[in-house]
Amino acid sequence: MLVLGIESSCDETGIALYDTDKGLIADTLYTQVELHAQYGGVVPELASRDHIRKLTPLILQTLEDAHISKDALDGIAYTAGPGLIGALLTGTSVARSLAYALDIPAIGVHHMEGHLLAPMLEDNKPEFPFICLLVSGGHTMIIRVDGIGQYKLLGETLDDAAGEAFDKTAKLLELGYPGGPNVSNLALKGESGRYIFPRPMVDRPGIDMSFSGLKTFTRNTWLKAVAEGDSSEQTKADICRAFELSVAETLTIKCKRALEQEGLNRIVVAGGVSANREIRAKLDQLMKKRRGESFYPRLEFCTDNGAMIAYAGAQRLLAGQCNDLNFAATPRWSLEDLPPIKVTLKE
Ligand code: KG4
Ligand code: ZN
Repeated sequence: MLVLGIESSCDETGIALYDTDKGLIADTLYTQVELHAQYGGVVPELASRDHIRKLTPLILQTLEDAHISKDALDGIAYTAGPGLIGALLTGTSVARSLAYALDIPAIGVHHMEGHLLAPMLEDNKPEFPFICLLVSGGHTMIIRVDGIGQYKLLGETLDDAAGEAFDKTAKLLELGYPGGPNVSNLALKGESGRYIFPRPMVDRPGIDMSFSGLKTFTRNTWLKAVAEGDSSEQTKADICRAFELSVAETLTIKCKRALEQEGLNRIVVAGGVSANREIRAKLDQLMKKRRGESFYPRLEFCTDNGAMIAYAGAQRLLAGQCNDLNFAATPRWSLEDLPPIKVTLKE
């Protein structure tokens, strides 16, 4: 089964072709980063307009580069939520129209399920069940995964998402947008130990998280340094280092609790923040100590992309699921509401 995947939930237009027998055939990404950079964050209306401009040419280019005719498609998978409603509607409209014209099924994919299943695009795939740490710009969740569509939320952030905390730290330190990679790169030059930041909510039982207090702590530390006449690059780097370490250790402590609670020893990390090297290093350390396994998507599939949507949609289409043309894009959508499917994962 050959599936066209369309991702347009935020500031990236992603198009991919996934074949359930042959694997990933094509993957194209257009990022709007430059468009939004001057505003210091995503401007939803500009995002929607840019998706409209880019979607159709990107689909045609992806098919042409792969030497595949649109008539060879067996189904279309598009991101139906969660995300920015205007941006979601552009992909949804294009996907549904194309499916209608070609008379093939279409399925609305949950963006976070796409992220969660992205490690399945790698040669070294995790087996079910596992614990998944899903960390993106809008979500921070720890989930028990027993199969596709079998998700139990064990803990989540009560306020800011981890990615949001990275982005706000970058904004505070004037490191530009998107913030995560910039904070992380500057942290490499930071001296560890000059600042010690709190590990939020680790002294309380449970798997829920909170990053807004850490954000305030970071802000106060920076404002104090500035007031003392020290706004040097080194101080910024030292703050980035302390902030990143605090996020990485907090997430690792919560993942350890989830593994212990569920009696599992396999962890999957996905979503934009899973590209972070300190988080990967801390989780690898934990899993080495536990003699367990950790799985991540390749770096380009950590952040938003069409391949993860094509993959997740293909699994559901293969299992006979699809949506009729009335299926609406939805900015809010719980992962736990997704129907389960029984699948045999293809190599
Ligand atoms: O999954 P994603 O591409 O979009 C959403 O679904 O939100 O995640 C984007 C988030 C942003 O907050 C970005 O700053 C963060 O992922 N991010 C990182 C890194 N790369 C991306 N955060 C920390 N370290 C990174 N290397
Ligand atoms: Zn995402």
